[in-house]
Amino acid sequence: MKNIIVAIDGPAGAGKSTVSQIAADKLGFTYIDTGAMYRAVAYKALQQKAEVTDELIISVLPDIEITLKFENAKTKVFADGKEITAEIRTPEINKIVSKVAALVPVREKLTELQRKMGQNENVLMDGRDIGTFVFPNADVKIFLTASVEERARRRYEELKAKGFDVNLKEIEKDIAKRDKLDSEREMAPLKKADDAILLDTTGLSIDEVVEKIITLCENAR
Ligand code: DC
Repeated sequence: MKNIIVAIDGPAGAGKSTVSQIAADKLGFTYIDTGAMYRAVAYKALQQKAEVTDELIISVLPDIEITLKFENAKTKVFADGKEITAEIRTPEINKIVSKVAALVPVREKLTELQRKMGQNENVLMDGRDIGTFVFPNADVKIFLTASVEERARRRYEELKAKGFDVNLKEIEKDIAKRDKLDSEREMAPLKKADDAILLDTTGLSIDEVVEKIITLCENAR
């Protein structure tokens, strides 16, 4: 039987990874957080302790080894064998990751890796271009979104809970800027696929969103 591919795309802070991890776990699918892969490249570039130019970012690509492990509804992220799950969720990485994700060589390398990851098993993959570019023939395509204010509030709560000193208005500005960069880049921009189902999560609970995703996936089985 052919493996099932579920593509969940949407802007920053729409709640994709939170609901995707729970839904994948309930469905018994492997969850693949493609944003974490772009973050891993950003992390390695920052580790070089030099100005993060396009050339520097591209220079870390040839030998970066990115691994994702999905266990007990949680994803662990590794770069070159070292766990970097927490290190990739910092304001510093948030600031440079859109620039990293706009580079064609980065996208080419990660797209190839993502296509391989979806070859043999049932996967639920989230990102920006999964339904439009990585897997245009995905079995289920969902475009998850929420208002900028709600997305900023969610990111604010998440970073505050981790002890970061954050400012809501600044996060809102940062998210709006990231939306713009992600939507306007040349290669595989953030865009709802014509055949994706639009799911606006503003005002919905995590459980409500998970239920909707599971129903859509079960109809495709
Ligand atoms: O979902 P996230 O915030 O972890 O994503 C990090 C960045 O990577 C974000 O700026 C968008 C980009 N990204 C992308 O361009 N394509 C993907 N498939 C996933 C993420």
